[in-house]
Amino acid sequence: MPDTVKDIKKRAEALRKALHKHNYQYYVLDDPEISDAEYDRMMQELIRLEADHPEIASPDSPSVRVGGAPLDKFETAEHSVPMLSLDNGFDDSDILGFDKRIRKNLSFSSRSGEGTRADDEILYTAEPKMDGVAVEIVYEEGRMLMASTRGDGIRGENITSNVKTIGSVPLVLTLEKGKIPRRLEVRGEVFISLEGFRKLNERRVSMNLSPFANPRNAAAGSLRQLDPGVTAKRPLEIFLYGVGLTDLDSESHSGTLEALKQLGLRINPLIRPGITIHEALDYYRELTGKRHDLPYDIDGMVIKVDSLEFQHQLGATSKSPRWAIAYKFKAIEETTRIMNIEVQVGRTGALTPVARLDPVNVGGVTVSRATLHNEDEIRRKDIRIGDTVMIRRAGDVIPEVVKVVTSGRTGEEEIFNMPANCPVCDTPACRDKDEAVTRCNNTNCPAQVKASIRHFASKGAFDIDGLGDKLIDQLVDKGMLSSYADIFHLDKTGLEGLERMGPKSAENLVNAVEKSRDMTFPRFLYALGIRHVGENVANLIADKFKTAEEVFSAGTEELEAIDGVGPEIAKSVRRFFELDENRETVKRILDSGVRIIYSETGKKDGYLEGKVFVLTGTLENMTRNQAKGMIEAAGGKITGSVSRNTDYLVAGKSPGSKADKARKLEIEIIDETTFTELLK
Ligand code: IVH
Repeated sequence: MPDTVKDIKKRAEALRKALHKHNYQYYVLDDPEISDAEYDRMMQELIRLEADHPEIASPDSPSVRVGGAPLDKFETAEHSVPMLSLDNGFDDSDILGFDKRIRKNLSFSSRSGEGTRADDEILYTAEPKMDGVAVEIVYEEGRMLMASTRGDGIRGENITSNVKTIGSVPLVLTLEKGKIPRRLEVRGEVFISLEGFRKLNERRVSMNLSPFANPRNAAAGSLRQLDPGVTAKRPLEIFLYGVGLTDLDSESHSGTLEALKQLGLRINPLIRPGITIHEALDYYRELTGKRHDLPYDIDGMVIKVDSLEFQHQLGATSKSPRWAIAYKFKAIEETTRIMNIEVQVGRTGALTPVARLDPVNVGGVTVSRATLHNEDEIRRKDIRIGDTVMIRRAGDVIPEVVKVVTSGRTGEEEIFNMPANCPVCDTPACRDKDEAVTRCNNTNCPAQVKASIRHFASKGAFDIDGLGDKLIDQLVDKGMLSSYADIFHLDKTGLEGLERMGPKSAENLVNAVEKSRDMTFPRFLYALGIRHVGENVANLIADKFKTAEEVFSAGTEELEAIDGVGPEIAKSVRRFFELDENRETVKRILDSGVRIIYSETGKKDGYLEGKVFVLTGTLENMTRNQAKGMIEAAGGKITGSVSRNTDYLVAGKSPGSKADKARKLEIEIIDETTFTELLK
């Protein structure tokens, strides 16, 4: 007699439950209770049941780990809280400076306790800095809903099917006691262990495929596969290290990590919670010592202020939180000779001296150039042409000269002087009194024009396929482009006459330009190449203004009101749009049929959209984090201190001085009951 559907469903559910558990035992606890063969048998049985009875399929069945259907492309996924990056420190004094800034910001006494735990010690949590790929995973009611890459920090790619194949990522959260959070956005690093990397490359070489350069590239490449079946075969792992929006209740970062662990998520066991800044420095030395014995690559340590209340008060710049810093490991260094010093002209006209080096291998990469930053830097380090120098390469950073090996001097070395004129357009170069940078102020300088067109056509901006560096050089040199606005007037006949440009490629380019005419608002702003306006800042600005015209005429005060936009950025934006020439260029772009697309999400439909809240005192029925989560979910924002931009001050029990300030500024003060009403 055949099994009833009910029986089959029951059997499938039992298998799923057992597989989830064994998965957790194996991947998270590293303590398997059954053999691999037994696990495989159960998995095969489940896959067969689901194949025969599609009606019992489930998106969080362990069977999805073998990889689902291939995709055509990744969809975009927006992060509800931006995924920022970290500030870097390279020596102890950078880290002590970080602690000092935090003490100042939080009005603590200016020195930490040098090991004796003073009453006003700030406690940190220190963690290994994993050298992998950042991801965000969203759980709702304990089920994995979505996973995405960091992308530009605001929007990433939806890589759910791929992340589901990672054994150490639970598809369903479990908890012995307590409540599973309604929504949990967790963040962490996906990586490949050194052993996994070695085996993967061995397999690739045996199949005549090129090996991956390092574990990080292998992890990144594996996560970006459109076919999750391929990802499933890669030895990806995860460590979680933080949260985005969540109603998870915790007072400290280390508490959050502990809660994540209780939910079955994998946390790095080397994390050191609740330590002083001096203990963190000791921990750094400890990590440096064991770094090469670890089964995976780390590139430093991350120090985070442990108290979430303090984190909240400290806030973030547009790039990184003020409550965390990465203490990077010492970079790899080599010695070589400076053959010559050349001067490059950048997009903003900055003249940068660059050392041409006798090519040298630094940690597996051939280095033939190193930035010398600016004139002061050259003087400070007394760098001369012909010098033997120690150079350093750290991660993806441009190699730089650490110091001169003076014992290598012969007396033949030549002192370098910054040229008086721009090496490209011969305009006299200037240097502001309070700036280290020498600039060519001729905005029509071909070097600047070329660089700004390259930026305009680049991936994060108008993304014009086929408009590469060489072609831009030709077009500018021939006078066919004198600003990026001219791109939209290029025609096929004109293009066909150029070197290495047939009718077909000319047509392709014209089509690519045509295709780029519909442009999203943030990309448009980014493309203009305004100083200090990178992708992040462009996103922040685009979120705050309804139209481009509003940005063109925005005053510095209005710009500075945006969280993450400081005076320097505001001034730069203002200065850009004040110049007739720039306004004219923007107008020409818009007149030539470029349409700015204003995003759906920018349409502000959350009922608290744009409202700014400040909390003070103790709330009775929710934690601050929950309140924050609910405000943000409705489109509102929380800031740490009361200002003219505050819409509501939510006052709990025994409110502090914030209430006085709010009264003075005539800002609406509401109690917890009214606040709860408002959220409904
Ligand atoms: S916290 C806002 N913790 O480093 C703070 N990041 O440069 C966000 N990373 O994108 C990051 N290990 O990919 C944090 N224990 C750790 C980390 C870590 C590695 C990576 C992460 C992030 C990058 C920041």
